[in-house]
Amino acid sequence: MSTELLAAARQGWSRAFTHRAEPVEVWGKFSLAKPLVIVRQFPVSVQCDPARVDGLRIAHVSDMHFRRWNRVVQAAQDALLSIDYDLIAVTGDFGTLHRSWEKSTAIARRFFEPLAKRTTILGALGNHDVPDLASAPDLPITFLLNESKVCHVGGVDVRIVGLDQSIPESEDLALAFDYGADDLPTVLLAHYPSTAYRLDRHRVDLQLSGHTHGGQIRLPGLGCIWPNDAIPRDKARGLHVIGDTQAHVSAGIGVSPPIFCRYNCPAEITVLSLTGVAADPPRKTSVSTKKTKESVISI
Ligand SMILES: [Fe+2]
Repeated sequence: MSTELLAAARQGWSRAFTHRAEPVEVWGKFSLAKPLVIVRQFPVSVQCDPARVDGLRIAHVSDMHFRRWNRVVQAAQDALLSIDYDLIAVTGDFGTLHRSWEKSTAIARRFFEPLAKRTTILGALGNHDVPDLASAPDLPITFLLNESKVCHVGGVDVRIVGLDQSIPESEDLALAFDYGADDLPTVLLAHYPSTAYRLDRHRVDLQLSGHTHGGQIRLPGLGCIWPNDAIPRDKARGLHVIGDTQAHVSAGIGVSPPIFCRYNCPAEITVLSLTGVAADPPRKTSVSTKKTKESVISI
């Protein structure tokens, strides 16, 4: 992001900057007392020719922590079946305990199967996932494990880069960004929001992350108590500038130890609608020096 855009964003998303600190629209599947799942929608500006990205809608899903098929899981699937988007991005934590990953994968299969009939689903792994999950049969998700893909979505091109963060040693940023320099809008799927601080020379227009669960417990007036990652508490959920990039941190769908509940922090799905803005000064290109083979997904 340019210095100008970063400054505007840090000053509260001024009028010159089309991002908003709060979503423009929020709706949910409500029970009588509280929402099971909230669906948020954010507009997001990226520095590129508007014709190259305008209108692209990414549904961000994270931290499902599938243990059983319950009302929240059903509501999340219903929500994803009833709203519009062009692409689903999943930022890890499909399960919780490594020893029960096959059961979690079976639930993931049931969850994502009907969604895969509507659109392509791209995924990255989180710290609760086992690497084997990425090659589980019949799981209709294309995993990006330290790699990138160019997606042609509704006439728009976007590069999606995914990281393997199942264990600390598995992440390889250099490999993930090892493609030839180009000017495509770039979206990074990284389970940990704090990855944004380590991007260094790698250009990212939008990072999608989870892990925090929005704090999972949010006190009125105080918000998140513990983000569970090296980011400020007030960035544990929502669209923020982190490091030198903009990042959307999902509150996720499931819960994980040590507290298997949420308070004042419902499960959520987010739809990010991308808009291009002219880059000034001209955007930096990716610094990769060698070009590797990459696949292209057409939707
Ligand atoms: Fe998680």
